[in-house]
Amino acid sequence: MTTTFDSTALSAHVADALGRIAAAADEADVRALASELTGKRSLLTALHRSLGSLDADQRREAGRLLNEAAATITAAIEERSGVLGASAMTARLEADRLRLDEVEDLVALAPVVRGHRHLVTQTRDELEDVFIAMGFRVEEGPEVETDWYNFEALNIPPAHPARGMHDTIYVDVGDAESVVLRTHTSPVQIRLMEAAVRDGSLPLHVVIPGRVYRQDTPDASHLVEFHQIEGLVVDEDITFADLAGTIESFTAAYFGSDIKARLRPSYFPFTEPSAEFDITCTLCRGAGCRTCAQTGWVELGGCGVVDPAVFAAVGIDPTRWSGFAFGFGIDRCAFMRHQIADLRALIDNDVRFLRQF
Ligand code: PHE
Repeated sequence: MTTTFDSTALSAHVADALGRIAAAADEADVRALASELTGKRSLLTALHRSLGSLDADQRREAGRLLNEAAATITAAIEERSGVLGASAMTARLEADRLRLDEVEDLVALAPVVRGHRHLVTQTRDELEDVFIAMGFRVEEGPEVETDWYNFEALNIPPAHPARGMHDTIYVDVGDAESVVLRTHTSPVQIRLMEAAVRDGSLPLHVVIPGRVYRQDTPDASHLVEFHQIEGLVVDEDITFADLAGTIESFTAAYFGSDIKARLRPSYFPFTEPSAEFDITCTLCRGAGCRTCAQTGWVELGGCGVVDPAVFAAVGIDPTRWSGFAFGFGIDRCAFMRHQIADLRALIDNDVRFLRQF
């Protein structure tokens, strides 16, 4: 029996196959079509098997048509599969994209709060600026001092009653020279004068801010740990008038021109003559109030002309050089300028208080 090969039916099958491939919605559809159209049970495979029943001429022609049909269908499958694969990838990437602007339930991130310098630091910086403008340079020294720097070189020998003014906190270091949490910034005067003598760099015009310690019971106007700014000038022909003028200029520059300074005779072992200096009470502007004990004045610090005994301790020739020194509380300046009721608020670290400045 001779059969004839129906090339019209084959063309229709290919056209139908191409239509279905083009309509495949995803890669799984394409895979299913591939096995249906080119697999073992496909029409193409069946037709291939039937080639044997054709006569030689027809077989050759039919074989060519079948191969062409198979190639066309396979190419269409590959192309459709490629297209769907690429768009599936695009869709996956799109789905993976994190659209922060569209997400509604993003965890609300706490806003970053920017801190600022502590009031004491701000005050120190401002005081430094005032003195720098007056020609001083800024230096610092150690907070743990030896007895020599904190006392002896400042003309305060071991049994001197002036040590009582400092109610000192000593640190026990066994057999070594006794060390002390410095009770004032004055020991840095000694260190700087020694250094200046060593490298021949006198004159000196310095301010020395820093933390100091006293054995004390904290109250509204006393802390066991507070801050001072020391001033030291060593030059030729320095007199008490230079000291008074410096204090006056500083007071006007820092507190304003309506706040005055006055000097009261006093005593410090390392200055002679010595004075305490007061400023107009910033709360009552001199009228008298509780803060200034009705005097109109508030004490800010001590000062005086450098004692020749101190020059002797560091090896400065007192016939050529003279100088003055002063020291006052940084915390107290903040207290006066901002009318803080209780100094202890400065070290409580309550941000509700600190944030105001
Ligand atoms: N060091 C002194 C004190 O803390 C203050 C002072 C400094 C006095 C410099 C005179 C000269 O009390």
